[in-house]
Amino acid sequence: MTDSLRRLSPVVRLAPAKLNLTLAVVGRRDDGYHSLHSVFVPLTLADRLSLAPVSGHRDTLHVTGLDAGPPADNLVFSALAAARAAVGGGWPGGPAPAPALAARLDKQIPVAAGLAGGSSDAAATVDGALEAWGAELDDHARLAVAAHLGSDVPFFLAGGPALVEGRGEQVAPLHGLHGTPGVLLVTPDIAVSTPEVFAVFDAIRSHGDGAVRMSSGHLAEELRSGLTAANLVARAGVLASANDLLPATSLVVPALVPFKRALSRLLQRPIGLSGSGPTLWALYPSESEAAAGADVVRAAIGRGGLTAPGSAEPFVCATAIVGHSQQGSEP
Ligand code: C5P
Repeated sequence: MTDSLRRLSPVVRLAPAKLNLTLAVVGRRDDGYHSLHSVFVPLTLADRLSLAPVSGHRDTLHVTGLDAGPPADNLVFSALAAARAAVGGGWPGGPAPAPALAARLDKQIPVAAGLAGGSSDAAATVDGALEAWGAELDDHARLAVAAHLGSDVPFFLAGGPALVEGRGEQVAPLHGLHGTPGVLLVTPDIAVSTPEVFAVFDAIRSHGDGAVRMSSGHLAEELRSGLTAANLVARAGVLASANDLLPATSLVVPALVPFKRALSRLLQRPIGLSGSGPTLWALYPSESEAAAGADVVRAAIGRGGLTAPGSAEPFVCATAIVGHSQQGSEP
């Protein structure tokens, strides 16, 4: 190992899942993407990423935990390449390119689930690689790298609840969440393709009808000015239908509709869909109450009283929304 490598230490990042509390599709762009108005919140459910500089020229990735597909296709590699290209010779060992990194990813967020786990891993990779290399990029350059990697990636660079607009590159932090609302996630074992859901959305209507956009605007305003966990939970009925992709996802995965209804009956709570799905959510005043909900769901599945679509049992997880004030606690 060279001296410059020896000086660099491994870095660890948590890559949180996200939930869309609202998702309004407000238009179709010339580039084929859709303009959104969506309230994104990060969750305590997170993947864990570590990056260690190594000699040689090849980045490596070792994945543990949930199935994340073939490692060679993992967005972590694209994120490392994009970050290295953006840094160029601008690191302490430059003008040589920034060194190869050995990445370890402990996958806790189900993939293709509407929770943006892969996008979060990509954002954590960019941020962690810069630290591992002792390099810096200004906000504009970091945002460009993130947006290039995927529409959901810029949100994770900001940290905390945010109003996300445009294709996903306009991220306005919302600082007004008080408390730590609990969230129960139920993810059927079905990979949902986001491009397929948007294609069906286009086929059935050219844009949302405006009601979701209005709910999204109201929530963003409340989360800007101040909203307690209890008041967020009180809005769950409105939020559960504030997703313009719901009809399209229901056509792509028809079995999700009766399952969502059964879950709502079982828990006596409104059930929402995150992003393009198939993750379903219920809101609670606290994580411990969400955990009690998770027990109810697991027990119902165990006794055959609730059957989820998919070839295996669903992922059932109690987690919580991370507000801005709780950010920044690295392990
Ligand atoms: O940017 P990303 O690769 O994550 O997006 C996946 C797909 O989701 C895109 O190919 C596009 O079909 C759809 N999408 C969209 N409008 C957005 C975000 C995603 O149409 N704002």
